Amino acid sequence: MAGIVIIGTQWGDEGKGKATDQLGESVDYVVRYSGGNNAGHTIVVDGETYALHLLPSAVLNKNVIPVIGNGVVVDLSVLFEEIDGLMARGIPADHVLVSSNAHIITPYHRVIDKVTEKFLGKRKIGTTGRGVGPAYADKVNRVGIRVQDLFDESILRKKVEASLEQKNALLHRVYNRPAISPVEVSDELLSYVERLRPLMADTSRVLNDALDAGKVVLFEGAQAHHLDVDFGTYPYVTSSSPIAAGACIGSGVGPTRIDRVIGIAKAYTTRVGEGPFPGELLDEVGEKLRNDGGEFGTTTGRPRRCGWFDALVVNQATRVNALTDLFLTKLDVLTGWEQIPIVVAYDVLGVRHDMMPMSQSDFHHAKPIYEYMDGWSEDISTARSFTDLPKTAQAYVKRLEELVGVRISGIGVGPGREQTVMIHDLLG
Ligand code: GDP
Ligand code: IMO
Ligand code: MG
Repeated sequence: MAGIVIIGTQWGDEGKGKATDQLGESVDYVVRYSGGNNAGHTIVVDGETYALHLLPSAVLNKNVIPVIGNGVVVDLSVLFEEIDGLMARGIPADHVLVSSNAHIITPYHRVIDKVTEKFLGKRKIGTTGRGVGPAYADKVNRVGIRVQDLFDESILRKKVEASLEQKNALLHRVYNRPAISPVEVSDELLSYVERLRPLMADTSRVLNDALDAGKVVLFEGAQAHHLDVDFGTYPYVTSSSPIAAGACIGSGVGPTRIDRVIGIAKAYTTRVGEGPFPGELLDEVGEKLRNDGGEFGTTTGRPRRCGWFDALVVNQATRVNALTDLFLTKLDVLTGWEQIPIVVAYDVLGVRHDMMPMSQSDFHHAKPIYEYMDGWSEDISTARSFTDLPKTAQAYVKRLEELVGVRISGIGVGPGREQTVMIHDLLG
């Protein structure tokens, strides 16, 4: 086993952080390959809670080398705040390696993220407001600032000036906002240079060398399949490629080095921000799921929209990401329901769909068709093997496995690192 990818199969917040942390004991490197500090990964170890936004979750395992790949957009203020926060809690984190090719989220990206959302009004995406989308837009538009640019002051100043020229015109004339000073932005970025110098690396080379030497590399996805810019519910998506294929582009490791792709799915469904969600429960049932699951965003604190498990959503993620395993999280949250519905198909204007429709407007019209499973009332948070689970919980898991088309190898029964039922070895 050499290259392992973890991805979210729904709309984010599936519990990727916990799964990554858990595998951390058995891996040598852990890599973030896409997104930025729009992610919020919560890990609970020995009753202590850690919320990570930019550093890979397995940083909590002292023997793992954390890596921020070229596909990530890095807000340096967040990076150093997070490193300092962990160090203050006795966790070494200043050995993180940051790709020289990673793009920087600058102060103007944060401003533009917020003003464009405001400008869109009812059509807003509901972004996390962290500047992630505008930073990726600059990358593709070839006016981005990369980590390596900080080490040549005159180049940096020219690039910031060039990047701001058009943006300032837009800010001023369209959004009626004050222009942003390129000098101030460059000065701020340059203030990080000395701290950044020892962290910057050719991370693609580091990771390929590690794989050559038989080391195990874990690629930690952020966001999720249905937030992917190509495969998600466009335009209500993030601006990067969180899917498994993104691990290669975002880290500089070839596809043949990936041995396993582990999808993470919550035992029900949540979504933050705008965008279609056919099974969304806007009633007291949704409210109960939100409260029982503590479904409030790690990054923005926004309440998450809730619904029952949508098998079509996860089935598509299984296929596009060629999942080898699924890790089902938060099964404990479903304790206490007499019946548990599962979305098994959609009704789209009178036509039944057993798979996600090809077109977005059909998806907007999709109404869930449910199948009902018996629930359970026993506390399952101390279960550690599949047979510890009540028979009805076992049947629920087995039915999901059939519907999504991949084996369920692990089940989360609580937020703690140890609160897991392992069925198949994820590293074997
Ligand atoms: P991520 O973005 O995919 O890493 O997920 P988040 O950390 O944003 O949200 C998942 C939340 O569920 C966190 O608060 C976790 O501590 C918590 N969590 C993860 N797995 C489980 C589980 O199996 N049961 C329960 N009750 N909570 C879990
Ligand atoms: P983790 O890694 C849930 C959502 C935002 C918004 C859309 C675009 O914790 O699962 P962006 O700021 O990326 O431009 O926002 O994507 N979003 C997430 N939702 N979990 C996340 O990350 C998310 N990252 C972005 O709410 O709808
Ligand atoms: Mg999250």
